[in-house]
Amino acid sequence: MDFEIISGELASLETDCLIVAVEADNTLSPAAAAVDKASSGYISEILGGGDISGKIAQTLLLHKVPGLAAKRVLLLGAGKEDDRSNRNFRKAIKAAMAVIKSTGISSATFALDTPLTNDDDPYRQLRHMVEWAGNELYTYDETKSKKADPLKLEKISIYIDESSIDLAETALLDGTAIINGTSLARDLGNLPGNICTPTYLAEQALELDDEFKALTTTILDEDEMADLGMNSLLSVGNGSHQPSKLIVMEYNGGTEGDKPHVLVGKGITFDTGGISLKPGASMDEMKFDMCGAASVFGAMTALCEMALPINVVGIVAAAENMPSGCATKPGDIVTTMSGQTVEILNTDAEGRLVLCDALTYAGKFEPASVVDIATLTGACIIALGHHATGVLSNNDNLAAELLEAGEQADDKGWQLPLWDEFQEQLDSNFADIANIGGRAAGTITAACFLSRFTKEYRWAHLDIAGVAWNSGGKEKGATGRCVPMLTQYLLNQAAEEE
Ligand code: BES
Ligand code: MN
Ligand code: ZN
Repeated sequence: MDFEIISGELASLETDCLIVAVEADNTLSPAAAAVDKASSGYISEILGGGDISGKIAQTLLLHKVPGLAAKRVLLLGAGKEDDRSNRNFRKAIKAAMAVIKSTGISSATFALDTPLTNDDDPYRQLRHMVEWAGNELYTYDETKSKKADPLKLEKISIYIDESSIDLAETALLDGTAIINGTSLARDLGNLPGNICTPTYLAEQALELDDEFKALTTTILDEDEMADLGMNSLLSVGNGSHQPSKLIVMEYNGGTEGDKPHVLVGKGITFDTGGISLKPGASMDEMKFDMCGAASVFGAMTALCEMALPINVVGIVAAAENMPSGCATKPGDIVTTMSGQTVEILNTDAEGRLVLCDALTYAGKFEPASVVDIATLTGACIIALGHHATGVLSNNDNLAAELLEAGEQADDKGWQLPLWDEFQEQLDSNFADIANIGGRAAGTITAACFLSRFTKEYRWAHLDIAGVAWNSGGKEKGATGRCVPMLTQYLLNQAAEEE
């Protein structure tokens, strides 16, 4: 999709559809008022008829509005001043896109000059408009024999006041980068486990390496990981015919020697639970257990497209968790790369087993920060539901930075405590640490496990189990979260560098 920024005279604007906002109780936005004037009161007359009242996300498509070059006008409800929020803004964009997609429109122009959100940053208002419009155009047809009908819509223009063109161009570029990153994350997440294997993810990384000069990619195979002592990571793939991979993508946009920010993604391309086999219901959704890895790919893509002046390393720990004659068994003990031994009491708590070695590996970069992203615990869904990413950290400033980035990007997180009290739940009689801590506070004890491997640096853990995909129905599929939060975090790091 082509996005562009335009300004000029509204009445003479050539577009298939001009989108203008109507506030609650029929108050016209400035752009709607301009259209009304050019059409000698046509809009006010329609509003007087009561077809639309300006409630949030209401739409009314008008054809052949007199006095305009635009072929259609879409009135979009902006609600009351009290209604202004990102949630409602997003609803409105979604409603407008639904109308646009259902018609044969090939170009649309958003002229929303009344704020629909309480986020008063004009750059972000614009960027979100681009991101959310772009998100509505996502389709997945990779594994269907009948491909989706090609989209008629070719161009989305955003009409703004001339004075803010520079800011708008940046918002558009960043927004497009985030859409592209999010779409990649959704594509990877949606692919089935028989296609999206650890080897497939490694190939994906090499493709990104080809596409972006600033990336240097290294793939570690099982032998190389064994040499490094990554026995915990390797124990997860023992039961699978698919070889495990450690994928390392180094982005050098900053000055040489600048400490990198490291992103580490859980890339379990299918999680059966292993010998601690999961129940059958909805097990297919465990193809999404690599969504942490997908969000690392997505954030790296966005980062490369935005060419941010920082150094970032993306690491993906990829394995398939299967039961078999050579699978790891409950009670097995492995020695991690850090030297600590782990008693694997439940082979279904495998995410932490791959992450712990990847996190030890991350230490070799002397990182400025390390953020891991993982569909780690079902308990996170019980704690926070499907709206918030769980945030846990050994550094409250880092946690605050991620929470703030989540707010800014409208990809929110919520912090859970990582107190020492919880650590005791991981005590083992036979090893340094057990890989499960009982039913209570499952998300926290999982993070406690990881914290044993991250003592040397500022680290945060994002549990995306509740937000990475939608279950059931037409909406079933990967969401691309938390590419926006991670990208915003990196944008903020880059801004600090300046
Ligand atoms: N990938 C799952 C977590 C998960 C489950 C995410 C359902 C989203 C939906 C993870 O590997 C897992 O199985 N975790 C176990 C941990 C338990 C054995 C301590 C869980 O959450 O049940
Ligand atoms: Mn599991
Ligand atoms: Zn898992």
